[in-house]
Order: sequence, then C-alpha cells, then structure tokens
Amino acid sequence: MLGVHRLTKHYGALVAIHDVSFEARPGEVLGLLGPNGSGKSTTVKILTGLLRPTSGEVHLDGADAFADLEAYKALLGYVPEEPHLYTYLTGPEYLRLVGRLRQLREAALDDKIERFLQLLGIWDDRYQTLSSYSKGMRQKILIAAAVLHNPRIVILDEPFSGLDVSAARVLKGFVRALADEGKIVVFSSHVLEVVEQVCSRVVILKDGRIVGHDSVANLRATLQLPSLDAVFASLVAEERVEERTLGLLAAMRA
Ligand SMILES: Nc1ncnc2c1ncn2[C@@H]1O[C@H](COP(=O)(O)OP(=O)(O)O)[C@@H](O)[C@H]1O
Ligand SMILES: [Mg+2]
Repeated sequence: MLGVHRLTKHYGALVAIHDVSFEARPGEVLGLLGPNGSGKSTTVKILTGLLRPTSGEVHLDGADAFADLEAYKALLGYVPEEPHLYTYLTGPEYLRLVGRLRQLREAALDDKIERFLQLLGIWDDRYQTLSSYSKGMRQKILIAAAVLHNPRIVILDEPFSGLDVSAARVLKGFVRALADEGKIVVFSSHVLEVVEQVCSRVVILKDGRIVGHDSVANLRATLQLPSLDAVFASLVAEERVEERTLGLLAAMRA
C-alpha cells in the first residue's frame, strides 16, 4: 500500500498543496482529479520522490518511502506530465536506453520493445526519431518506457493527452489491467470522463486541498448526482461559467 500522509508543499509564498493524505492500494486505480493548478502534478512529483514535500510523508507498506530512495524508485514506473525525451533517438533506441537504465536483461530487451511497439501501433515508425513523432506517439513511448521493467507501482500524470480515440481506448484498458494485475496505480488527470472510466477511487483536489475522496460510485450516490461531471462541478464549483464564456466572446469581438 502506498500512502501520503499530511503532505504540504510550498513554492515560496505559494501553497501548492496543503495537508493532503490518501492511500493507493494494490489492485486499484486511484485517481487524482482537479482543475489546472489544483496541485495534482505537485502531489505526483512528491509521490515519485522527485520533489521533497515541505512537510508530510510518503509511505510504502508502512515504511518511509524516501528512506531508501533508490530502492523505492526501482519499484516505480512514471509517466511525467512534461517529459524530456531525447528526441534524436528512435522509439526503439529510447526504450533500449530506458531498459538498460532499468537493468533489464539485454537478450530479452529487443523482443520486449518490439512487442510493445507492435501492440501500440508504432512499429512501422521504428526508424523515425522521436522528433518526428506526433504527441500521441510520444505519449505511447512514454507509457511503454514507464512499464518496461514491470514495476510494482505505476504513476501517470495526464497520460492520455494528445492520444487519438482508439489509442486512448487501448491504454485505458491497459491501465485498468495493470491494477487487475495487482499493481498500485495512481492516475492524475483533469479530464473527468477519463477518470470516471479508468479509476476505482478518486481524490478531488481544489486549490491544493482535498475536497472529495471516495469511490466514483459513492461520490455520485452521496451527492445524489448522476455523473462525476456533476459531482465535480458541485465540489469544485466552477464560478460563473456562462458569464465568463459570454465575456470571452465579447472580448474577442471587441
Ligand atoms: N516549480 C514551481 N514553482 C512555483 N510554483 C509552482 C511550481 N510548480 C507548480 N507550481 C504552482 O503550484 C500550483 C499547483 O500546480 P500543479 O501541481 O502543477 O497543479 P496541476 O497539476 O493540478 O495543474 C499552481 O499554482 C502552480 O502554479
Ligand atoms: Mg499537472
């Protein structure tokens, strides 16, 4: 079980997250949902050990995850929101690099990479460098890179941005299947429909604080709302949407 306990992160005077606690269990996809700037990526970066919290802890099976950061990171697969790819490499070259860093057996690596690229539909592009890949193709490479070493914990930050509908369908199924395999999966997204389809439980963040935390079904039921969209609107309370829309149109025409 992976848990964060009373996480707070300050960037100077800005409080990015405040007193955030939750647990992610094996076999479930825990969703982090919230509008832009609500603190999802900050939470995710702390979970991956890339960022130290101002206060609070990350626990894996009850022990401090940062006590042996190298061992902890070996258990993780991570799809960052803003990846830094080596764009002069081809897809297979990039995955081979990641595989070697993850100390995978060289003999098995090429076969594994081919299977991933075939299944993701980018095998035909294997001689192209990543600089020529579309956003969706790069996203597929990142997801493959995150799970290449069969990690126990998979953390995905807005992983489906730029994916076409069919690729997103395959990968949604894959993320759920990772949980069914018994992995701990944390899935951050601002896209409601995706969270509703992929996650079993969801933590809703607003302005760095948790404003809702339950199963998708319970959130709908307790608030007596038909969809997660309605739950989200009531918890996060997007203000004056219509007025702002009309204001934007007016500003454009001015
Ligand atoms: N490196 C940083 N330095 C200063 N402020 C940051 C930094 N990263 C994020 N923030 C701020 O922290 C808040 C939460 O950001 P973030 O965690 O990226 O939210 P989300 O992923 O939900 O969009 C925002 O107000 C953002 O501007
Ligand atoms: Mg983010």
